[in-house]
Amino acid sequence: MELDEIDTVGVVGAGTMGNGIAQVAATAGYDVVMRDVEQRFVSAGFEDIDDSLDRLVARDELTREEADRARGRIDGTTDVDDLADCDLVVEAVTEDMDVKQSVFTDLAETCGPETVLATNTSTLSITTIAGVVEDPERVLGLHFMNPVPVMKGVEVVVGEKTGEETLALGHAFAEDLEKETWEADDKPGFVVNRILMPWINEGIRAYDEGVAEEADIDRGMTLGTNVPMGPLELADHIGLDVVLDASETLHEELGDRYQPAYLLKRKVAAGDLGKKTGAGFYEYD
Ligand code: 3HC
Repeated sequence: MELDEIDTVGVVGAGTMGNGIAQVAATAGYDVVMRDVEQRFVSAGFEDIDDSLDRLVARDELTREEADRARGRIDGTTDVDDLADCDLVVEAVTEDMDVKQSVFTDLAETCGPETVLATNTSTLSITTIAGVVEDPERVLGLHFMNPVPVMKGVEVVVGEKTGEETLALGHAFAEDLEKETWEADDKPGFVVNRILMPWINEGIRAYDEGVAEEADIDRGMTLGTNVPMGPLELADHIGLDVVLDASETLHEELGDRYQPAYLLKRKVAAGDLGKKTGAGFYEYD
């Protein structure tokens, strides 16, 4: 499959990552089918897209007409059969191997044999996800960053069986969405989360062990190293449940140096998941 053969892009999962991917694909001119299991998730995905497009219009990054055209290119659905005619599908469901494998089983049955199947997984094995597809050469990782419409990077992840053509297409597709890519081998956490997660967990431990107040840990890292957000703010932005899931996968695969911080587990157990629940390391309106 070549880039100019891709007309319709499927996105499975209308959450933060899925709706962001749907938005940037539609903005680049692709027809998009965004699927989630319930209509309320699809509707919430469209709300995020509307909000994000409005912000891009306010910043003059898009005209109102371009934003409206992009919005008009996205169809929402709960029916997996509506993905049948997609040329490329990006899966962005929850970070659970069983769920992802079940999505890929459905996609292999529903879509044509030429359809390229990508997963947005942040830490799980591309090779294991692709194991349920008869021809895993067409499966790769396309790991977008949150917030997708703003962040320029996409990690292209190479599974054991990912084909050269699939890989080239992954880079070309992401670049067509005005992203920049790098390649990572299918090893836990790839580049970004392998390095980011211990940094976040160390920030949490530093706070828990009384090194400094939350805000001073974040100020120290933003002022001291010029990153846009410190570890605690960034954990809240990503979602503490997502951070814990990623940390646990890394811990399981790579050993003790990846152990999640105790306070991270306690906050997730308490239901304080960051911005999305109104409280994490900070409080939100
Ligand atoms: N859509 C459109 N515009 C958006 C947006 C969205 N979803 N989110 C933020 N923006 C816009 C805002 O409207 C704002 O525009 P303005 O300057 O005209 O008001 C602009 O971006 C800047 O936003 P804010 O003023 O709210 O705040 P910041 O200046 O702090 O920028 C940020 C927000 C872009 C999120 C920035 O803080 C940042 O880059 N943070 C780091 C994010 C990061 O590291 N992401 C990667 C996480 S790792 C990951 O995703 C991997 C996963 O697997 C865990």
